[in-house]
Amino acid sequence: MPDRPQPTVVLGVTGGIAAYKAVEVCRRLVEAGAHVVPVLTADARRFVGEATFSALASEPAQTELFGGPTPIPHTALGRAAEVVVVAPATADFLARYAAGLAGDLLGATLLATQAPVVVCPAMHTEMWEHPSVQENLATLVRRGVTVVPPGTGPLAAGDVGVGRLAEPEAIVEVVLGMLGAHGDLAGYAVAVSAGGTREPIDPVRHLSNRSSGKQGQALAHAALRRGAEVTLVTTVDPVLAPHPRLRVVRVSTAAEMEAAMGVEAEKADAIIMAAAVADFRPVTVADHKLTKDQGVPQLVLERTPDILAGLAARRRPGQVIVGFAAETDDPVARARAKRAAKGVDLMVVNDVSAPGVGFDHDTNAVTIVSASGEQEVPLSTKTVVADAVLDRVAELLAAGHRLTPEGH
Ligand code: CTP
Repeated sequence: MPDRPQPTVVLGVTGGIAAYKAVEVCRRLVEAGAHVVPVLTADARRFVGEATFSALASEPAQTELFGGPTPIPHTALGRAAEVVVVAPATADFLARYAAGLAGDLLGATLLATQAPVVVCPAMHTEMWEHPSVQENLATLVRRGVTVVPPGTGPLAAGDVGVGRLAEPEAIVEVVLGMLGAHGDLAGYAVAVSAGGTREPIDPVRHLSNRSSGKQGQALAHAALRRGAEVTLVTTVDPVLAPHPRLRVVRVSTAAEMEAAMGVEAEKADAIIMAAAVADFRPVTVADHKLTKDQGVPQLVLERTPDILAGLAARRRPGQVIVGFAAETDDPVARARAKRAAKGVDLMVVNDVSAPGVGFDHDTNAVTIVSASGEQEVPLSTKTVVADAVLDRVAELLAAGHRLTPEGH
């Protein structure tokens, strides 16, 4: 199964000193999972070379309306774009865009696209305050263009004032907020748990397991791409880039995860328990480090709460609940039994004894077990597995999933 296409962002760069900050915008968008195509104006290249953007972006930077590899690059870019962001946007660019001029690749792309457009002006204070700039901006805003206004601070040549390009983080946040707006999970809140819990023995030791949290993070990432509001309740520091629709809750023990997921469950439309919750924990936690001179400790364990079963028992009408199971023997039969026993919609089972599957790997092979049957996802990236699970979640949510009298 191939990876889903990433959302395409056309990053227009125009000729101002802040063009060097567009490099950071490019890098952060790529890191957040966007497919970034830089389009540089002739003047932008006076400030930053196209090689810099080409090295960081998803495709080589484009500069020419004529003579390039594609005969009509502006319509191809305009159609591919999910968002077009222009950073920095000079006074000259704003005037051209407001007038509808299409004499270069960026101008033509902007007229050819139906995607939302974000402009991030940057210029000297006198220019920013000039009525023509403000009127051009007002025209663009009236046409639905989003403006990320400049900030106040040092400008070129030692000047200080308003006109400084907004910080790259702020620009990226606006763009990411727009991506996925039409995804199949837009408007839904999804809570995902990830990682292995740690059950303390004493202040320096704990019981845990080999879960890396990668599958949970892949689920959170894919859900963001598909437009969901995502909360990731995780025992490991996520490698996910910050995202305006992502909230991360760090937990450590099963008890902390239970409390955090309980809060999320009150508003979540879908709950995905990808975490490897410890099944047992020490009954007592020593206040002080256990030392060898005290002899070999006898650990007495107790069961942890079954978070998934608890969430399913208290589920809100319409809420979709997904569990994961790592098995070594007869995985599908065991997953069927677990799904029914825990009362969840989907049980995603992996045979962790198979090569390339489960813990620590970037790949996974799973079977998604539901009331209506099983779907196999052969060895693929954890992103592909995440999307296969979310396809099923999206189907259930779209069908206005309701508990049936016969249960799950
Ligand atoms: N789970 C949970 N709380 C626990 C244990 C597991 O919420 N205390 C969740 C996991 O996040 C996962 C699913 O339940 O979604 C795993 O089911 P489980 O029956 O616990 O699987 P195993 O831990 O593999 O159980 P067993 O060892 O009994 O097969």
